[in-house]
Amino acid sequence: MGLLLAMSEKGSMKYLKLLFFVCFVTLVYATNARAQTPIVIKFSHVVAADTPKGKGAIRFKELAEKATKGRVRVDIYPNSELYRDKEELEALQLGAVQMLAPSLAKFGPLGVKEFEVFDLPYIFPSKYVLNKVTQGPIGKDLLKKLEPKGITGLAFWDNGFKVMSANKRLHHPADFKGLKMRIQSSKVLDAQMRALGAIPQPLGFSEVYQALQTGFADGTENPPSNFKTQKMDEVQSNLTISNHGYLGYAVIVNKKFWDGLPADIRTELAAAMQDATTYANEIAERENERDLAAIKKNGKTTIYQLTAREQLEWRQALLPVQQEMAGRIGKDLIAAINKQGTLDEK
Ligand code: LMR
Repeated sequence: MGLLLAMSEKGSMKYLKLLFFVCFVTLVYATNARAQTPIVIKFSHVVAADTPKGKGAIRFKELAEKATKGRVRVDIYPNSELYRDKEELEALQLGAVQMLAPSLAKFGPLGVKEFEVFDLPYIFPSKYVLNKVTQGPIGKDLLKKLEPKGITGLAFWDNGFKVMSANKRLHHPADFKGLKMRIQSSKVLDAQMRALGAIPQPLGFSEVYQALQTGFADGTENPPSNFKTQKMDEVQSNLTISNHGYLGYAVIVNKKFWDGLPADIRTELAAAMQDATTYANEIAERENERDLAAIKKNGKTTIYQLTAREQLEWRQALLPVQQEMAGRIGKDLIAAINKQGTLDEK
């Protein structure tokens, strides 16, 4: 009996040791596997890769993967490949995608109407004032307004001032009368086009080329980089360098995802985003100048520079939009930005 007991005890000891060994190996393997499986950031956007935003996203990918030593992988989906305008914000809030950089004109439908301040005609007298706003307390406060929507705002990226295009010359505000003008989904841009006597047509960015090609829209507005990379010069005979309004982006991330990251990784990603932002904002002006020159060289679109007198006419037609939209955006916010401009004039 004692022998039997001894044998069974010895057997169970062996079994316990084997069980311990299997558990240990499984744990080590699982830990290693977890260590090797990178955290994936899906970064979706709607413009071509060869644009300031497209290049900024690529730079962030390079910096983020290097800084985290491969613990993070950034998969970029440009040109509305993964999500188009109308879908991307909801996809981010649902966590189906982790990072976006929508145009500031696209946050109104999310309920953050203050972002449409960037759409106001002539709200920024210079890039310098614009940078003071986006890189200073006003910009920080605006990004904070995204948090209740489950979104963390990381940065502002620039794409410069917009030009206007159509299949007719656009020298005077009266030239817009009755034109169907594509806009982003912003009430300010709606008011802007109506102030010119045009008919605003909100459309997703991926639909613009076809709308212009089929005549569903007569014209549109965008910085030269988008105009060129979306081949709009193939379907628009006239472009006016109006610089009447601004187009920029907020780089945003799903808040739950961001807050759930290991603290060291979040710090490394924030630093990578800061450097990518510096890069994206540095190249924006140069890229738009390059693309405007390319449009000119292509010769399919007549490029017109407004005279000083014509610029005054456009201002007189469009400046009332600031007053008209103050109720929606906030008088104080508009005043704060206008004050920034006068401060810098002194
Ligand atoms: C547009 O829809 O015209 C722009 O927002 C596209 C972009 O993101 O630059």
